[in-house]
Amino acid sequence: MRITTTVNGIQHEVDDVWPGESLLYVLRERMGLPGSKNACEQGECGSCTVYLDGEPVCSCLVAAGQVIGREVTTVEGLATDEGLHPVQEAFVEAGAVQCGFCTPGLLVAAHDLLERVPQPSDLEIREALAGNLCRCTGYEKILDAVRLAAARQAQA
Ligand code: FES
Ligand code: FES
Repeated sequence: MRITTTVNGIQHEVDDVWPGESLLYVLRERMGLPGSKNACEQGECGSCTVYLDGEPVCSCLVAAGQVIGREVTTVEGLATDEGLHPVQEAFVEAGAVQCGFCTPGLLVAAHDLLERVPQPSDLEIREALAGNLCRCTGYEKILDAVRLAAARQAQA
């Protein structure tokens, strides 16, 4: 089947897609957007998190046929021509990235949190990131990064 969907503001048409193929597969293997990562393919780790019509979802659990006519934003879509998004910069500056496999999903989850709750408490940060697993960092630097992004957002 052919799917037509908007990804990061650009309309894409992809042919020969099996309707049960995951959005994650379509993004990575058919659209050349490898930012979203495939770790578990079961909705457990959050490394594949993208926005679908503005809501964060695990793209490994979304069938390609479900995204026809809808809007997807991936981690690649957070940055602009001017540079990284402030949340992305905060992750780099806080040292919240080690192997980086979890980072795209965490960035989308953190971005979503700060859009909804510009000044989150530590509990709100932990709850918002609870679906995103990281095997490397111990999470403290990730929490620091979100706190840093929130503080910068307050000053802007
Ligand atoms: S790869 Fe989708 S939740 Fe783990
Ligand atoms: S930085 Fe390696 S899994 Fe999080």
